[in-house]
Amino acid sequence: MTETLAPEAVSVPEYPMERSPRCPFAPPQRMLDMNEVKPLSRVRIWNGTTPWLITGHEAARTLFADSRVSVDDRREGFPHWNEHMLSTVYKRPRSVFTSDAEEHTRFRRMLSKPFTFRRVEALRPVIQDVTNECIDAILAGPQPADMVAKLALPVPTRVISDMLGVPYEDHEFFQHHANVGLARYASAEDGQKGAMSLHQYLIDLVKKKMEAPAEDAVSDLAERVNAGEISVKEAAQLGTGLLIAGHETTANMIGIGILALLENPEQAAALRDSDDPKFIANAVEELMRYLSIIQNGQRRVATEDIEIAGETIRAGEGIIIDLAPANWDAAAYPEPEKLDLRRDAGGQLGFGYGRHQCVGQQLARAELQIVFHTLLRRIPTMRLAIPFDDVPFKHDRLAYGVYELPVSW
Ligand code: HEM
Repeated sequence: MTETLAPEAVSVPEYPMERSPRCPFAPPQRMLDMNEVKPLSRVRIWNGTTPWLITGHEAARTLFADSRVSVDDRREGFPHWNEHMLSTVYKRPRSVFTSDAEEHTRFRRMLSKPFTFRRVEALRPVIQDVTNECIDAILAGPQPADMVAKLALPVPTRVISDMLGVPYEDHEFFQHHANVGLARYASAEDGQKGAMSLHQYLIDLVKKKMEAPAEDAVSDLAERVNAGEISVKEAAQLGTGLLIAGHETTANMIGIGILALLENPEQAAALRDSDDPKFIANAVEELMRYLSIIQNGQRRVATEDIEIAGETIRAGEGIIIDLAPANWDAAAYPEPEKLDLRRDAGGQLGFGYGRHQCVGQQLARAELQIVFHTLLRRIPTMRLAIPFDDVPFKHDRLAYGVYELPVSW
């Protein structure tokens, strides 16, 4: 690694930064303080290098949309999360997450078909049924009930299984292996085993769909294999990626979103009492803004010098766009610390922005809109069953959230 250390490396703040246990919904205070001064500053990461941390909303959007900003993690200066990610960079196949320009467009086209607005709208009745079934089981079961295990995890897992086209009789196997790596105390070995069985499962499934395609995401990938565009392994890799990107994120957003609503009863009442799809949609955007659960920062590297907000990002310097402070930038959202479901939260960056913005955002939105609204209506007396201070937050995970959320009613 030949990245040069900036002279001020000793005095710059360390990144990543943690949220305060006293204000668990807020972005790390240090980032908010930095953003008061300027929308981008240098931070120091694990290997001593000092990439730019982008904290401002406008600067984040500008850089997300700039073609001189690359996601290619093999480029010199790319700010890797940790040593493991750096040392395995040539072992990991290229993917939608790490490719630019035409290569990215090629991957993205293979993935986006099942996630178009039209296909997702057609899935709403399925999402509604799955949500209702989970809530029926909660109401029929003992109190308190853990909303993470009983609702936040099963809804997105079942929906993504349906979308991928996993046969119904395999749901249990599929869910089990998909969740092994997510368990709080899962060993690395367990995680590895889970990933391997899942990958093998996806390989078999791709082969089956090559023979007998249906209207689902794995069939779409199998079609590309039949057309000679990708190998079976690549198709399985893309499918596994969708599964993992598609359920842990949404599950965390559901879990911590329920908690945020319980802590803001007036806002929860407004959402419960509304029948206006536009209000419900905006409420989810505001929850996405307020909670900004992706907390590792979106990693990039500059391929040319870029002038922005009075600074110059030099070619080869790393860039980390952190969504949480950008979504709490008072220049974009007055009183950002208030959860206000009536504010226009349309420009929130929780799904990223520009060409790498989330492929699954329409699906995630549909799930969140249905789950929050249905839950508030069907269990209006829901309350937290433990003191707020005892709620276990996921400070150490890529997607922020809660490990469990016991509620009574
Ligand atoms: C609340 C739930 C979700 C959140 C907060 C979220 C967040 C994000 C963010 C911030 C990015 C941008 C990454 C970047 O710019 O580097 C992203 C990309 C992506 N997301 Fe999501 N996501 C969610 C749900 C989903 C779902 C349901 C799927 C699929 C089933 C999915 C699949 C993807 C994929 C494939 C990309 C890569 C897109 C690209 O690089 O072109 N996500 N997501």
